[in-house]
Amino acid sequence: MKIGLLTSGGDCPGLNAVIRGAVLNGVKTYGHEFVGFRDGWRGVVEGDYMDLPRTKVRGLARQGGTILGTSRTNPFDGPNGGPENIEIMMERNEIDAIVAIGGEGTLAGAKRLADAGLPVVGVPKTIDNDLQATDYTFGFDTAVSIATDAMDRLRTTGESHHRAMVAEVMGRHVGWIALHSGMSAGAHAVLIPEQQVSMEQVAKWVSEVHERGRSPLVVVAEGFIPEGFDEVLHNKGVEKDGRPRLGGIGDYVTQEIERLTGIETRNTILGHIQRGGAPTGFDRVLATRLGMAVTDMVHDKEWGKMVALQGTEINRVDLSVALDGLKTVPQHRWEEAKVLFGR
Ligand code: F6P
Repeated sequence: MKIGLLTSGGDCPGLNAVIRGAVLNGVKTYGHEFVGFRDGWRGVVEGDYMDLPRTKVRGLARQGGTILGTSRTNPFDGPNGGPENIEIMMERNEIDAIVAIGGEGTLAGAKRLADAGLPVVGVPKTIDNDLQATDYTFGFDTAVSIATDAMDRLRTTGESHHRAMVAEVMGRHVGWIALHSGMSAGAHAVLIPEQQVSMEQVAKWVSEVHERGRSPLVVVAEGFIPEGFDEVLHNKGVEKDGRPRLGGIGDYVTQEIERLTGIETRNTILGHIQRGGAPTGFDRVLATRLGMAVTDMVHDKEWGKMVALQGTEINRVDLSVALDGLKTVPQHRWEEAKVLFGR
């Protein structure tokens, strides 16, 4: 078989490890051949790809980013998009299957193509950890560990100046990175999109900690909306791909803490640092196993599915299950974290 891999959507530490796992298992176990489409679905619709021999994936597990490049191109857009054109491209290049490594948008595209009869499967990817049907996505552990390290550093400078410190982390729709990095760094408040909290409550938590002579640390996910906050202020329109335009919530939270408590407060936006660099050991192993498992699934011709971590096993699940809404932080996980806030 000749299998085409693509990485699409925002990049994520572990993408290269998936590519390596897929190629090594495919070549060694089955004698399959691999190609890599450049820049996600753009490479598919334009038939732009590179050969992926075994030598090309050597040492890739520890490398951040994606050697294939990525984009947010929709496979149904443009004169060469859509299932008929993609089928012609596959026939012309003798490609037998497509493996789409991506988040919600990418996997939705993969599902539509599979529903149209194309041999397409998926591998779930997002640092946000918000995909259903998989316990964890690779990239999440790396993002949490980068954010934890940054917060540990904010703590020492905060303590020196007797300041409150705010750290804004990624998480457009869900607060997994904020919750885990906040818990790991011992934050005194974690603000996530799933839970509305008033700025008065945040100020209370901060003041309690400050009164104990500590430097309060507040972690805020970029999609957090404070109680009573004018959504229009936060949601300043939408990006080209329909995602809400974000940014600035950390600044707002910082200003409000200062106004309500009188404590000098500083904000740090961690931004794309959370997506860069080498994956953690956990993410390398998870990504490698997913890559290997997706090759087995392609070999078995089980189209319209993705591989997923469930417990300690890698299972095959229908893409429709994975795409049934986002995996948000459940109430009990928030209540559990809240016990640690404030005093
Ligand atoms: O979906 C992952 C994510 O990292 C979000 O948390 C964040 O809002 C978004 O990507 C940023 O995307 P971009 O790189 O396009 O700015």
